[in-house]
Amino acid sequence: MKKSFAVKTSIYLLALVFICPIIRAQDKPAIVPEPVSLVQGKGRFVINDQTSLILPSGNAELARLGNQANEWFGVLTGHNLPVKSKATGAGNSIRLLLNPELNNPGNDEGYELSVTEHEVKLQARKMAGLFYGLQTIRQLLQLSAETNQQHSLPVVEIVDYPRLKWRGLMLDVSRHFFSKDFVKKYIDDMAHYKFNVFHWHLTDDQGWRIEIKSLPRLTEVGAWRVPRTGQWWSYTPPQKDEKASYGGYYTQQDIKEIIAYAAERHITIVPEIDVPGHSLAAIAAYPYLSATGYNYPVNPGSKFYNIDDNTLNPADERVYAFLDKVFTEVAALFPGDYVHIGGDECTKNFWQQSAVVQDFMKQQGIKTEHELQSYFIKRVEKILKKKKKKIIGWNEILEGGLAPEATVMSWQGMQGGIEAAKQGHQVIFTPSSNTYLDLYQGDPLLEPDTYDMLRLKTAYQWNPFPAGIDSTYVLGGQGNLWSESVPTARHAEYMTWPRSLALSEVFWSPRGKQNWADFQTKLIPQFKILDAAQINYSRAAFDVLATVKLDQEKQLLVSLSTDVDSLDIYYTLDNTNPDPSSVRYNGTPIVIPKGIYQIRAQSFKGNTAAGKLLIAPCGELEKRTR
Ligand code: ACM
Repeated sequence: MKKSFAVKTSIYLLALVFICPIIRAQDKPAIVPEPVSLVQGKGRFVINDQTSLILPSGNAELARLGNQANEWFGVLTGHNLPVKSKATGAGNSIRLLLNPELNNPGNDEGYELSVTEHEVKLQARKMAGLFYGLQTIRQLLQLSAETNQQHSLPVVEIVDYPRLKWRGLMLDVSRHFFSKDFVKKYIDDMAHYKFNVFHWHLTDDQGWRIEIKSLPRLTEVGAWRVPRTGQWWSYTPPQKDEKASYGGYYTQQDIKEIIAYAAERHITIVPEIDVPGHSLAAIAAYPYLSATGYNYPVNPGSKFYNIDDNTLNPADERVYAFLDKVFTEVAALFPGDYVHIGGDECTKNFWQQSAVVQDFMKQQGIKTEHELQSYFIKRVEKILKKKKKKIIGWNEILEGGLAPEATVMSWQGMQGGIEAAKQGHQVIFTPSSNTYLDLYQGDPLLEPDTYDMLRLKTAYQWNPFPAGIDSTYVLGGQGNLWSESVPTARHAEYMTWPRSLALSEVFWSPRGKQNWADFQTKLIPQFKILDAAQINYSRAAFDVLATVKLDQEKQLLVSLSTDVDSLDIYYTLDNTNPDPSSVRYNGTPIVIPKGIYQIRAQSFKGNTAAGKLLIAPCGELEKRTR
């Protein structure tokens, strides 16, 4: 770059950054997750009629990847690239290369991408690396299209590899059922952002979603509940003779198809069979599984916790025989190393009330129900070990003592994971405060009803490597989408994105490359990619959130903020809609005078509304102080 031009460009960029920081400097590719290293040069590589795809011949896996790549190039550029084993003729080329010698400090998922005006060279030690490199190429093409440089890639040198080995998203398909096609789309979207584990929460109190051929009632009965619409936890319980018509399940054939689909995208599926709590759907199918033995219906989202017995009976050998059957089929279906066995939120009151369970504890010398839970989990670990699978459990499996080889998924903060790591166990961090995708992402007055809050910035700004533990025990991190308040596929996407863009960067990019200011500039370009993929993402990060306090005189103090920086917030107290001629919020909490009915606030970029209009009745805001 010539110096004067460089200076001019810098001034221009500085102006751009200064004037509109949420709009990205045009020439820096807004790749998510941010690569380890990206050095941009001058010029572009253009895909045209003369471009070929070069693959070494005789490698079936590479040939398959070449086909996949050609599908993506076809969609993005309209060109189907002829596949060759050597560059010939005058045209430019995209070359994919497996290179075992690659001096990449990363692991088997790393890649190096070199783009000149004449050649795109993507090399990796393993297929996964090539796959991730292609995701980067896809994004570069998509981002180029946004800047009217269609069908082209910037000249660039990228070296890239993941920070974490396990980069997961969980989808709860029990509380609401999601179709096979949607599960595939979810997996496809995950792959685009370099996630590599799909944790499939297949069973819970509100539905059993996996066909187990030796236990047909699990899906004949357990997959169906009475239909309810509205507010989860306040639904009317099933009425006498009411038909259980809502639900569904995945046949083993469906599951094989989804596993193969995920494998093509370098995603391992980890099935979860949640025991010994969260088992009401299984108990509805086979009432002998609980110590109560009562004939419960599958719960439709009405209050039942601590009322209906949703726990398996740890004192009954028939329960372990049942689990052996379930896990035999699960282990045969899923090729991955791990099976998640849940272990969370197991209420103990039914075990405490059961004479059979209490006698069993005495016989076995088990003193507490926590120890009993630990006994149960250890038995489950043995069952799965025989089937060559390792177990993962939610952090409650620490209670009463960890099973010898268990991996812990830490959701109630980081503490459970820290404790497990100190005991020498592998950990996946998924603290609800930073990774629960079912939480509000904006002001509850603007968002569908749920509980608690996880803003985009909070999802972005956390570290899955807590101080004080040996980091080699950190297997990875994960975002979790529980679906109590997620009745549709569209809403599942809304809750997943863009918070999972943030998580993808937390899980993939080096800590030093994670930068909230920079990440914000990638949102708008990434939203266009999500639009093209027909993903129903949320824009809540641009909306106003009201937080409140009472001062000493019990006056309401309201603070207004947006997740993204550099927006102006305007507000009114006179029930009219604000615009840039209204009062601009200056960062000092607004003292709401007595008699004011509501505050209306909205974020703007210049004169253009950036977020939704927030209408916040003072009575509602006041409730937040309680
Ligand atoms: C959980 O959220 N119960 C793991």
